[in-house]
Amino acid sequence: MSAPQRVRIGVIGAGLMGRELAGVVGRWSALQQSPVEPVLTAVCDVNETAREWFRRVGSVETFTGDHRDLLDGRVDVLYIAVPHHLHEAVYTDVAAAGVDFLGEKPFGIDPAAAAAIATAVEQGGVFARCSSEMPFYPGAQQAVRYLQDGRAGRIVDAEFSFLHSSDLDTRKPINWKRRTEFCGQIGVMGDLGMHVAHVPLRLGWQPATVFAQLQDLVPERPGPDGRPVPCDTVDNASLYTTAGAPAFPLSLHTKRIAPGEMNTWRMRVTGMEGGVEFSTRYPQSVRVMSVRDGVQVWEERMAGSQSAQPTVTGPIFEFGFPDALLQMWAAYLTERAGALGTAFGCATVAEARAAHDVFDAALRSSAAAAAVPVEHGTARRHEPSDVAGVIGR
Ligand SMILES: NC(=O)c1ccc[n+]([C@@H]2O[C@H](COP(=O)([O-])OP(=O)(O)OC[C@H]3O[C@@H](n4cnc5c(N)ncnc54)[C@H](O)[C@@H]3O)[C@@H](O)[C@H]2O)c1
Repeated sequence: MSAPQRVRIGVIGAGLMGRELAGVVGRWSALQQSPVEPVLTAVCDVNETAREWFRRVGSVETFTGDHRDLLDGRVDVLYIAVPHHLHEAVYTDVAAAGVDFLGEKPFGIDPAAAAAIATAVEQGGVFARCSSEMPFYPGAQQAVRYLQDGRAGRIVDAEFSFLHSSDLDTRKPINWKRRTEFCGQIGVMGDLGMHVAHVPLRLGWQPATVFAQLQDLVPERPGPDGRPVPCDTVDNASLYTTAGAPAFPLSLHTKRIAPGEMNTWRMRVTGMEGGVEFSTRYPQSVRVMSVRDGVQVWEERMAGSQSAQPTVTGPIFEFGFPDALLQMWAAYLTERAGALGTAFGCATVAEARAAHDVFDAALRSSAAAAAVPVEHGTARRHEPSDVAGVIGR
């Protein structure tokens, strides 16, 4: 095997997710083999304290508050993890400069932003993917393979969920993700929606119709001085869709207030010949259903530690969130190097746009209190009137 290709990576947005990249690059040697050797060389954040955190990473040479400083060829790849209202401007700048990037979801605040990013990516000829790491859990990978092999038979129904509950604490201070101007009218779907859309879209299950129940539970939260300020985003979203051929019910749940769930990504698909279920709450196992001797059996299979890209981690050990991020980055850089083969790849720009189509239909459904068709490739700008009909307002 030839020597791994050195890839210089820069981060734009050194917050919660930007910092995770430092850990991912630091653990690169856990991969059995990789065609690349990533090196974190640059960081950009408007907040100096956030930038300074990266002093602990010895390879970082460039510290800047302006992302345009990183577009002069000094990095090969950018990881962009900024608030949603900035995705359109930053991603299109990066694409226009011809720099490859892994952009955080949801790829823009609304379908118009996602469409502008997709156009810039095409015109810039860059290799861009959208972040979505949860399907890289070994149990999820095994469930995806089970479905791709057609083991479930004709699909009866499918459900994908991403459930949080830290918002149960009404004293939790406001942040940009809870303000429509920064997070978008799609609210929780912008935060968690790509995570639940990635696998169904990869399986070719593009929803055709959507009936959505959008819910607002906490209208105000403490502001910077402790006084209440509006918390005006949708907290929970349940989307009941029809997808696939022959069509079946596919539901997508994204919740910031799902009492008892801290950070649970789960999927459950049943078919006429079998079924499969996985939850990150129980990462060691994947459950598979079959009919044996006329008896319906749900069996628990041990998922192990191995995901899409082999690692040196012992197969009996447990897999966790940082491992999923390592897998996602390995998939991104391996695909960029042309060596992904048939392994599971990161969410594509087309999949990010298709997810926006579904979130857009959810807003229209909620406003109409009816099921609506999904408009594929929509480039709509969202308006405040789009969130009419939210339950609890
Ligand atoms: N994949 C995941 O599991 C996951 C989890 C959380 C968040 N995210 C996504 O990551 C992105 C960032 O979220 P976060 O939780 O890291 O937010 P964050 O608020 O922790 O960090 C965002 C950072 O961006 C910086 N920033 C703001 N404007 C900037 C600009 N013009 N240029 C450079 N930096 C700027 C902020 O100062 C902040 O440090 C969002 O798209 C979010 O949806 C993904």
